[in-house]
Amino acid sequence: MAQWTATAALPQPRPFDPRAVRQQFPIFRARREPPLVYLDSAATSQKPDAVLEAMNEYYSLYNANIHRGIYRIAEQATAAYEDARAHLARFLNAGSPREVIFTRNSTEALNLIAYSWGRANLRAGDAILLTEMEHHSNLVPWQILAAERQVELRFIPMTPEGELDLEPLPRLLGDGRVKLVSVVHVSNVLGTVNPVAEIVSAARAAGAVVVVDASQSVPHLPVDVRALGCDFLACTGHKMLGPTGIGALWGRRELLEAMPPFLGGGEMIREVKLTESKWNELPWKFEAGTMAIAEAVGLGAALLYLEGLGMDAVFAHDRELAAYALGRLREVPDLRLLGPPLERRGGVIAFELGDIHPHDVATVLDSHGVAVRAGHHCAMPLHRKLGVVASVRASFHCYSVPEEVDALVEGLHHARSVFG
Ligand code: ALA
Repeated sequence: MAQWTATAALPQPRPFDPRAVRQQFPIFRARREPPLVYLDSAATSQKPDAVLEAMNEYYSLYNANIHRGIYRIAEQATAAYEDARAHLARFLNAGSPREVIFTRNSTEALNLIAYSWGRANLRAGDAILLTEMEHHSNLVPWQILAAERQVELRFIPMTPEGELDLEPLPRLLGDGRVKLVSVVHVSNVLGTVNPVAEIVSAARAAGAVVVVDASQSVPHLPVDVRALGCDFLACTGHKMLGPTGIGALWGRRELLEAMPPFLGGGEMIREVKLTESKWNELPWKFEAGTMAIAEAVGLGAALLYLEGLGMDAVFAHDRELAAYALGRLREVPDLRLLGPPLERRGGVIAFELGDIHPHDVATVLDSHGVAVRAGHHCAMPLHRKLGVVASVRASFHCYSVPEEVDALVEGLHHARSVFG
């Protein structure tokens, strides 16, 4: 029988060297003119060889459905899928792999909570507390639920510097009506690292269940669900060097046990009769239908890769590059940086360039090979609060290098000369 080899476990470069890391990503080895300057890792990260090889090995050597086949490659596929779950549980310091539910992405994880926990637990007159800096995926599911159940939405305000203002928190939580608090860990627009543990402790003391949207934190810094003290946490694979189509919800076991299923279908059941069914145990109760098997295997390889680098080192690198970029961007006339000081942000920098539309800026940057995101970045209320329609955003990951920041700055000077 063909053997699955853990190519993802190949030794990673140490000490952390972003240029060596970059060489392990085929997209950066591909020759093109101008060379790719990829500053859009907050939208999606690039994928190292180890992830692509792990997925290729699954499809080439042991492609089979999981939890169903009584034959060797099916058992191998099941083991690889469940290993990825166990790995993610360790990565997040979860109590058990049963607390990790695979989803398509963070959005689906947040919707799972809203549809399952929310509809089972929220009643008219209850309140949900969010923040003004949320991504649409942590706003819209709660808006839908609030409208359906006559639940009030409240918001922790954001300061003009792009940080949460916790001063009104005791008042927002004070009447005991807030049953759920959902907060982003790291802002996808401003890179703000929010004081999540502090919010969690206030919210739980007020009797609320706390959700953390960790889409932009789990890929970049050490995240420990038990240290955070939250009840649920959502993350996504494609921002953490893994493939698209796989994300996860971590939840406290007792909450997940008590929740009704989200999607019905094969695999999430223990017994089905024509008119009723009994549910499977955790985590499979929430995994209906054939799951993203290759993607889970790819995510497992991405976790191994990130652990090889060390999450502390990845975050230190992000911040070092952010420091360099903030310095260089200040050289560009008319550029207005958005967001907090370096000490409270990760590797995400949003800005405006005079009154040049961000899409025009991005178009000129693209002619230099520089890929950034321009627009509202799925955070319209955040932009509205800052008094800007849209922004340009540069974001980094472990493979980003200072020369890319230099290319960005050069492109911005060019944009000014074209539109100025
Ligand atoms: N949420 C992703 C971003 O911020 C797609 O770009």
